Amino acid sequence: MSFDSRAFRNALGCFPTGIAVMTAEGPQSHIGITVNSFTSVSLDPPLVLWCIHKGSSRYKAFAEAPGFTVSILGSGHKAVSSRLAGAGEHSLDGIDLIPTELGPPALADSLAIFECARESVQVAGDHAILLGRVLRFAQHDGAGAPLVYFRGKYGALAQGEPPQGLPGRRQTDGE
Ligand SMILES: Cc1cc2nc3c(=O)[nH]c(=O)nc-3n(C[C@H](O)[C@H](O)[C@H](O)COP(=O)(O)O)c2cc1C
Repeated sequence: MSFDSRAFRNALGCFPTGIAVMTAEGPQSHIGITVNSFTSVSLDPPLVLWCIHKGSSRYKAFAEAPGFTVSILGSGHKAVSSRLAGAGEHSLDGIDLIPTELGPPALADSLAIFECARESVQVAGDHAILLGRVLRFAQHDGAGAPLVYFRGKYGALAQGEPPQGLPGRRQTDGE
């Protein structure tokens, strides 16, 4: 069976997600990374997860950090999201931050913030799953719009029409 990684990635991009910035204690100062793999796991105990590529220059710092802070980005965060998605670009210098109780700062104007202790790091293929226990959280009071990622592009929430005319062929069917 052939498996086209590019096509696989494109197909995964059809799942719309929000965007989060993870912050943690780095070797010299706090660092950040843009991710869309954030998801909730458990309410009791309160657990969340995200995935980091093992080849990331930030992998070691995040995998070894005692915890991380999750900032859920709003529609005004596009520039900072792009910056912290840049290769090797992990410094928080010049980014508008707010302090947290437990350590790593959060991005100002986030829709929600979760302060997490590292629960486990599970290697899964070319990524690792970072499971965090939520110790504190906060939610923005206003009706802020989220930053959305879909088909490799930033977007916004919209009431679109349901997809139509999708042929039944799978990428793994071969020609
Ligand atoms: C919208 C978006 C979502 C991303 N999600 C993830 C993710 O969930 N996990 C991950 O490891 N990298 C993710 N990345 C890539 C990282 O932000 C970063 O570009 C990558 O780690 C390469 O830089 P580095 O090697 O310096 O870490 C995402 C990038 C973008 C633009």
